[in-house]
Amino acid sequence: MAKGKKTAFFCQNCGYESGKWMGQCPACREWNTFAEEIVEKSAGAHTVRRETAEPVRLSSIKSGEESRISSGCGELDRVLGGGIVPGSLVLVGGDPGIGKSTLLLQVCKNMTQQGRRVLYISGEESLQQIKMRAERIGKIGEELLLLCETNLETIKSAIQRVKPEAVVIDSIQTMYNETVGSAPGSVSQVRESTSLLMQIAKGMEITVFIVGHVTKEGVVAGPRVLEHMVDTVLYFEGDRHASYRILRGVKNRFGSTNEIGVFEMRETGLEEVKNPSEFMLDGKPEGASGSIVACSMEGTRPILIEIQALVCRSNMAIPRRTAVGTDYNRVNLLMAVLEKRLGLHLSSYDAYVNIAGGIRMNEPAIDLAVVLALVSSYKDRPIDEKAIAFGEVGLSGEVRGVSMAQQRALEAKKLGFTTVIMPQVSVKAVGQIDGVRILGVRSLKDAVERI
Ligand code: TYD
Ligand code: MG
Repeated sequence: MAKGKKTAFFCQNCGYESGKWMGQCPACREWNTFAEEIVEKSAGAHTVRRETAEPVRLSSIKSGEESRISSGCGELDRVLGGGIVPGSLVLVGGDPGIGKSTLLLQVCKNMTQQGRRVLYISGEESLQQIKMRAERIGKIGEELLLLCETNLETIKSAIQRVKPEAVVIDSIQTMYNETVGSAPGSVSQVRESTSLLMQIAKGMEITVFIVGHVTKEGVVAGPRVLEHMVDTVLYFEGDRHASYRILRGVKNRFGSTNEIGVFEMRETGLEEVKNPSEFMLDGKPEGASGSIVACSMEGTRPILIEIQALVCRSNMAIPRRTAVGTDYNRVNLLMAVLEKRLGLHLSSYDAYVNIAGGIRMNEPAIDLAVVLALVSSYKDRPIDEKAIAFGEVGLSGEVRGVSMAQQRALEAKKLGFTTVIMPQVSVKAVGQIDGVRILGVRSLKDAVERI
């Protein structure tokens, strides 16, 4: 590093700043993540001082609720809380190659079809590459403008000239700001770039979509540093080998989080999956033991998924336990409950739990289904394949109530299930549903005996 310049050390994983180098970050506990960066910048470069600051009455402020713009894609609108809010900063994170650029180019396509002007700025791909992708996803309107640039000052003046309604920055790790001395992708660079983009978004009422790469090792400054700066954080996830992708809202200043949007990656770009339950249950085995369908609420929408368990005799001193798609510790806890409350001798058995389809589900309401799948596999007795189960399991083996039981039961009916195994305390909230047998259970013992 050049002598005479003011520098600081930043954890490249979480953005923690320190005056000296450290081996382990005290904030995120990662090792070897500190890198030296120049922090000197022109004083007050991004601070605008106003002479008067006049507080205003809350009642005199016009609500911006009705001015949402549709992204033309129902699944994305749902995750955003009902559409794009003008002037908001949206971060789309995800592993490389998951489809972030494709998704945002499709948003551009939909917005231009509504006659809106959109500016797509790429720091990663050439104009030809973007053109090739655009040809795959279909007809794009006239008002999509492309720019291959990484210098933020240039980008800022381009935005001021073009005056688009939305800007896409692909990706934040490639952008750099001359006032910051460190390399693109470093924590201070990413942070400065984002604050500049935030001023553009808020000052000019332009929606800015920022693409951010995440790496497991945290080598590049992950979007973690920006999460608190932006209005909305969306994560794009999915199994690279499966065709569907899940867009998950982790932070949203304009709507609820936990909403998910489901997409399928096709030859012609991302396609919305309107009915995820049907999609997830595709290929469910019939009459197999160790399998049952659970219902999890993802935001406001119930989703049915198949839970699979395989319990088999172990020939190791410490039996193997694996959980794919759900919390490993939770599965261990449920197995301990089974051992203690139902007297199953699971300590000499290996157990594998899998959420079919590769989706991740962490809602406690899937507990009952996990437990039933384990018991079914242990006893090698299949469960009625027209049954679904949901309910939280407590440490004393009781089945506890869950929220929105009625929506879950109705979703089951919609997909042709005839039995719903659920907590007794929630039965009243569900009421009668034609053609569906509601089986209220109070405890695990109760549940296992009645199936
Ligand atoms: P991309 O949007 O480039 O990912 P990211 O920006 O997150 O790095 O898309 C990555 C993958 O999507 C790539 O492997 C090719 C695939 N793809 C399709 O299958 N169909 C398509 O129509 C497009 C455009 C991409
Ligand atoms: Mg990309």
